[in-house]
Amino acid sequence: MKKITKAVFPVAGLGSRFLPATKATAKEMLPVVDKPLIQYAVEEAIAAGITDMVFITGRNKRAIEDHFDKAYELEATLAAQGKNELLRIVQEVVPKHVNCIYIRQSEPLGLGHAVLCAKPVIQNEPFAVILADDLIDGKPSVIKQMVDVFAQHQCSILGVQDVPREHTKQYGIVGSVNLEPNIEKVNKIVEKPNPAAAPSTLAVVGRYILTPRIFHHIAQIWPGAGGEIQLTDGIAALMQEEQLLAFRFAGTRYDCGSKLGYLKAQIAYGLKHEELSVDFAEYLKSI
Ligand code: UTP
Repeated sequence: MKKITKAVFPVAGLGSRFLPATKATAKEMLPVVDKPLIQYAVEEAIAAGITDMVFITGRNKRAIEDHFDKAYELEATLAAQGKNELLRIVQEVVPKHVNCIYIRQSEPLGLGHAVLCAKPVIQNEPFAVILADDLIDGKPSVIKQMVDVFAQHQCSILGVQDVPREHTKQYGIVGSVNLEPNIEKVNKIVEKPNPAAAPSTLAVVGRYILTPRIFHHIAQIWPGAGGEIQLTDGIAALMQEEQLLAFRFAGTRYDCGSKLGYLKAQIAYGLKHEELSVDFAEYLKSI
């Protein structure tokens, strides 16, 4: 029985939809209320028992590395000022048992290519991929739900969600047959199909569990839709050899790669934030 102990966080995209905010920092460092998107993603992995966090970074890697590193000067200043609660928050960003590993993707050649960059660290183990710009509020965390499905089925699993048919062009879309409640056996996967050509409305969102065989297939593929090396194309090839499942996770997803989704996340997380919820709800009512 294999266990998932490693998660890959591709954070090397250009984040062009958020320019100029992403001119000098990664999109995954944008905060929702008081935490950057990437921290929510890492917390989700930790809640699933994952201990090795592999970040695939690009030109704006500094902020992410610094965020998960010890901040000596800041911690010393907070300690000297007696701001113990803030000190605790800063020190608890990464628990002691968690390792952070950084790999540089020298050019943003696509999500498939970013995942392939993780091969030297992942080697021959199954692993999770988490796209931090898909913020998903789930209990238990969505990756924990998927790790539990993996424990039973020991194969690659895609996190999926139904989307309106007119949105299929924004996603990888699967064709499948139902296996168990909330679990589908995938027989087709297409990147960004037109609504008329989409095999279903079941969209792959930013959560994956993959077997290491995926690296072999990504290494073989040519750039697909949008001139990028698509993870979807690698997964389509993997499916010819191994069982591939799609899991309808329980949770609310905010597409924080888009401005509207990001604003919706701010509202939802603001309304449930322990310090802010009452005042923020009152303010929203007043406008
Ligand atoms: P997106 O296509 O949503 O991100 O990639 P993007 O390219 O940064 O955003 P826009 O479209 O220009 O606004 C999905 C995920 O894959 C990562 C991104 O960082 C994001 O988390 N990615 C994408 C890489 O790490 N490397 C790549 O070459 C492409």
